Amino acid sequence: MSQEHHERANGESTDGEAETDAPHQQTRWYAGGQYEPLLNEKSTDTVSVESSLPDDLTRDELELPDLAEPEVTRHYTRLSQMNYGIDSGPIPLGSCTMKYNPAFTEDVAAHRGNRVHPLRSDEDKQGILRLLYELQETLGAIGGMDAVTLQPPAGAAGEFTGIQVAKAYHEEQGDGSRSEVIVPESAHGTNFASAAMAGYDVVELPSNEDGRVEVDALEAAAGEDTALLMLTNPNTLGLFERDIEAIAEIVHDAGGLLYYDGANLNSLLGKARPGDMGFDIMHFNLHKTFATPHGGGGPGQGPIGVVADLAPFLPTPQVREVDGDYETYEPDRSIGRVHEFVGNWLVLVKAYAYILRHGDDGLERISETAVLNANYLASRIEYEVPYGPFHHEFVASADEDAADVAKAMLDHGVHPPTTKWPEIVDEALMTEPTETESKARLDDLAAAFDAVAATGPAELAEAPTTTTARRIDQASAARNPRLSWRDL
Ligand SMILES: Cc1ncc(COP(=O)(O)O)c(C=O)c1O
Repeated sequence: MSQEHHERANGESTDGEAETDAPHQQTRWYAGGQYEPLLNEKSTDTVSVESSLPDDLTRDELELPDLAEPEVTRHYTRLSQMNYGIDSGPIPLGSCTMKYNPAFTEDVAAHRGNRVHPLRSDEDKQGILRLLYELQETLGAIGGMDAVTLQPPAGAAGEFTGIQVAKAYHEEQGDGSRSEVIVPESAHGTNFASAAMAGYDVVELPSNEDGRVEVDALEAAAGEDTALLMLTNPNTLGLFERDIEAIAEIVHDAGGLLYYDGANLNSLLGKARPGDMGFDIMHFNLHKTFATPHGGGGPGQGPIGVVADLAPFLPTPQVREVDGDYETYEPDRSIGRVHEFVGNWLVLVKAYAYILRHGDDGLERISETAVLNANYLASRIEYEVPYGPFHHEFVASADEDAADVAKAMLDHGVHPPTTKWPEIVDEALMTEPTETESKARLDDLAAAFDAVAATGPAELAEAPTTTTARRIDQASAARNPRLSWRDL
């Protein structure tokens, strides 16, 4: 407690005037309308709450619902039934990888051993540090990377961190004048945004007629200004960039680095590693690839992996093993912190539990099933599906407004795909069934797609008719959500 604070707790202001109504922030607990100072503040004074609050902020009555427990339980259950979540059915939002999250990871996360205060010493946190170290190592092995930081709290934050690491590396090489980041037109919006936020000019790369990177265009774009190429592989059309070795050579010959956007890694697990393809930096979306509720505001975690030359620039702290003990340390030329402590700790715990439970064979089966499910669903629907064969997702083309198709799918009891992106496909329906769905659920989705394809334009324009909310204004719904029970 500060000196000023102490004096006030004893009823005197710092200028010596007696103070009858001491400010309430010095007090700690509420007793019958009065807040009392902590015992160790050595004062028996009590403070009147009423007198310390401005009149226009106080009220005599508070309208609280007076309800019995069954009513409250039923109210919240009804609210949950008005919604649709991954526990209700598939959410095939392309690019977002909204897969079912196994409940055992929640049990692991709820273990009281995870509730250690992050400011405890390394010595006190050996179990926690061991988990962090093993996860760093495991992700490095999965991605083919030499070093990993767990700190960034989302994929987009991983991108921004990775670009900062690349920038620091170029600067140290005396190459700080490199001012451009190349991003394919089909890339996720966060790639463009992260590069721009880091102060780079973004050079957009066109796709070829196969939906992949146009290698000639890359050759023309890459040069002494190139700091980085950011690439998702497989890309957002679900297509593997087969020319990746040639692409890596072009970028490296120009003195640039290759960044791998790991959002689609669930289709490569155990099969191929970004590090082996020539990538220098990558992020992992733990919340997509290794199961944590994702979307709708759930916390995420976007660790990045790097090749050995970039390891000294990683954020601090890193965890290492020394003679069987674990300790935190700051890499030599670290870019600093990008989050408090280690980021969203429980997301890390869940991801590690998920990886261990699946093991090497299980991870391979994840990618095989993700690829099988996407190709099966793509082959089952009436809508035109350009390109292919696919990895984790496919992009169908609606004959009509893709947003109308999405709304009409709701009437068939399923969640629609991502719409209108990537823009290289007209009226895109970007669909990622994920590895967690059974054939029966994929058939439900296919039936819903086909029922909507057979629906006339007048009916489409009216949909949805069976949902709690009908045609909402999507932009306002996202920007001004109504979250009060009074509005329901
Ligand atoms: C291809 C791709 N890259 C990057 C991101 C950004 O990841 P995050 O949502 O974790 O920030 C996403 C998110 O959906 C994505 O689909």
